[in-house]
Amino acid sequence: MTPPAVETTPEADRIQALFNRIAPVYDRLNDWLSLGQHRIWKLMTVKWSQASAGDTCLDLCCGSGDLAQLLGERVGKTGQVFGVDFSCAQLEIARQRGETHYPPRTHIQWIEADALNLPFADNFFDAATMGYGLRNVTDILMSLQELHRVLKPGATAAILDFHRPSNPTLNGVQQWILQTIVVPVATANGLQDEYAYILPSLEKFPQGPEQIRLAHQAGFAQATHYPIAGGIMGVLVVTKRLS
Ligand SMILES: C[S@@+](CC[C@H](N)C(=O)[O-])C[C@H]1O[C@@H](n2cnc3c(N)ncnc32)[C@H](O)[C@@H]1O
Repeated sequence: MTPPAVETTPEADRIQALFNRIAPVYDRLNDWLSLGQHRIWKLMTVKWSQASAGDTCLDLCCGSGDLAQLLGERVGKTGQVFGVDFSCAQLEIARQRGETHYPPRTHIQWIEADALNLPFADNFFDAATMGYGLRNVTDILMSLQELHRVLKPGATAAILDFHRPSNPTLNGVQQWILQTIVVPVATANGLQDEYAYILPSLEKFPQGPEQIRLAHQAGFAQATHYPIAGGIMGVLVVTKRLS
């Protein structure tokens, strides 16, 4: 299978280069900066995708592959998972993670491709997940439309990302954490610019109701946004019409 070309706009190139650069420290920083909580949020995301044993599933913007692995545990040895990302450095770490895991999990294929132009047939997947990817694609609507295209009728996808809490105190706490913990820790790892982007990307990122509107516009019959962790994170759950 020859994957379609990865989008090459300057903005997409910048995002791709950024995730290639941070790949060696990405997992470690995620654990430190979320105090390990991202693992719990990812488990919730897998559960809300409604993936079940034997399913063929997609993890979009899979990065270093931990969410895809959790999805793999859910679908078991009779299922199949495709992890898609356009950062070859992140995918290399995902591959190594798969090789060193014992006992071997589900069959997972790591595919270097563009979330805006997926190399899969229409109506292919039983369920999908996406962790911290929607905020990073250059066109959110197009990404949701592609996701909608490749899901089977009736299939669900769960999309985890940062969220701005509606409570002003929690909003202030989130900004404080990003400015006084996340950026300094990243700076100590030589990655100041790479992590300073989170706050501006979050400010541009649509809130729950707007995400729901975009999901409907992309064709999803049902869309619900669940704020989690006091609203500092959110999961958008979308379902394709049955027929
Ligand atoms: C913040 S990381 C999330 C990685 C992982 N899903 C997680 O939860 O930790 C965002 C990922 O999205 C990928 N990405 C951004 N835009 C993409 C696109 N258009 N196509 C494929 N991958 C993309 C980046 O390469 C990066 O690995």
